[in-house]
Amino acid sequence: PETGCLSIIVLGASGDLAKKKTFPALFNLYRQGFLQESEVHIFGYARTQISDDDLRKRIRGYLEKDGSSGISEDLPKFLNLIKYVSGSYDSEEGFQLLDKEISEHEVSKNTAEGSSRRLFYLALPPSVYPPVCRMIRQCCMNKSDLGGWTRIVVEKPFGKDLESSEKLSSQIGELFEEPQIYRIDHYLGKELVQNMLVLRYANRFFLPLWNRDNIDNVQIVFREDFGTEGRGGYFDEYGIIRDIIQNHLLQVLCLVAMEKPILLKPEHIRDAKVKVLQSVLPIKDEEVVLGQHEGYRDDPTVPDTSNTPTFATIILRIHNERWEGVPFILKAGKALNSRKAEIRVQFKDVPGDIFKCKKHGRNEFVIRLQPSEAIYMKLTVKQPGLEMSTVQSELDLSYRQRYQDAVIPEAYERLILDTIRGDQQHFVRRDELKAAWEIFTPLLHRIDNGEMKPIPYKPGSRGPAEADQLLESAGYVQTHGYIWIPPTL
Ligand code: BG6
Repeated sequence: PETGCLSIIVLGASGDLAKKKTFPALFNLYRQGFLQESEVHIFGYARTQISDDDLRKRIRGYLEKDGSSGISEDLPKFLNLIKYVSGSYDSEEGFQLLDKEISEHEVSKNTAEGSSRRLFYLALPPSVYPPVCRMIRQCCMNKSDLGGWTRIVVEKPFGKDLESSEKLSSQIGELFEEPQIYRIDHYLGKELVQNMLVLRYANRFFLPLWNRDNIDNVQIVFREDFGTEGRGGYFDEYGIIRDIIQNHLLQVLCLVAMEKPILLKPEHIRDAKVKVLQSVLPIKDEEVVLGQHEGYRDDPTVPDTSNTPTFATIILRIHNERWEGVPFILKAGKALNSRKAEIRVQFKDVPGDIFKCKKHGRNEFVIRLQPSEAIYMKLTVKQPGLEMSTVQSELDLSYRQRYQDAVIPEAYERLILDTIRGDQQHFVRRDELKAAWEIFTPLLHRIDNGEMKPIPYKPGSRGPAEADQLLESAGYVQTHGYIWIPPTL
């Protein structure tokens, strides 16, 4: 691995994302020895005029929450690595000051051969990405005589539709090369999302089954049992499709549906993902159900006439040899009856069934992304006992039980480490982003224009009944009388 001075600059340091995700992830990396005191310095940058200590106080509470052991000693040491610089997002003054601070740190920490590694984490609204990127480019690039690199990390929303996203991409693209840009989709940092390629390509079980001959339908589901608390203003501008489906669920779909990459190189993987996206057929209105939960418009930051969906079920169809005819059902909703995210692959019925096992339900392969990470397979077995009768059961790999001592890293932790190591495998490439917007933009425009309306549903419910009807008409067979219960220790 590279060594030498590493500066991590968190722009928007006092904002929500920085406090809740970025700093805690950095702290966890520090505690595990991935950020060496001898090399690393962290800078917070934002407009508010506060002192280093003020910033440290603001983020401290978010780091203490963690509850793991050994925290007390590490915390002050970590906080000491953080320096605060204030300045605006579009003037050279602040960024020149920032550059001065970073350079001083580089001088003080560098050994003879030196190094200037600069990671800019934009925990900011995308509206300021272009000016901030311009300022970084003008004032804060790594010092070429020292070598090293400059990278920027950005997160959605990358625009609101194809056009605005392409505009943003070209503005940033004029300033930074693609290998310097890390577009985060934090779902790609989740343990079981990262397991997808291993499951698919390292197991003989799945190879012959993973196609239209055997799989009836695939569901990728995201549910939350809370609404848009405190984020109504942001959310209403975007809605559930832009917030969850166009990015998180679509990324998961790519990993489920893609062809085998030539090698595990970031570019090979991303090439394979782009191909899936480019094979998705236009979405049909009749394969979409939108919902908005009752009470959503009571939020003072949400307009009374809002047409924004807080729930959507959308069927995507992939036009290729492997998947023609297999519906990929993407479903996401806020304020539902449970919180979970999972991939559910449902197999076709057994031909020439002699056990009448159809009544129990179909074989399913389920990857529970969260909570209680698990991989389980629903299958029919003989009911234990004297009778020859059948019952639905499961092969269960529950992580908490199987890997009792393993700590599953937070998505952001893993992804930030990748940005330091220069591995873009789990980041969204520009052409991938474009292809993702191409799929959803026509539908989003129809919703924005009021041509499609969400159906009201009760908070704490499964969402609109029409969504379940759509699932059924797409071929999904719900299993009745069987529920998988995560094992307790
Ligand atoms: C974010 C969305 O990207 O993901 C939020 O903006 C959502 O609306 C969150 O709550 C869910 O992330 P996770 O990791 O809790 O599933």
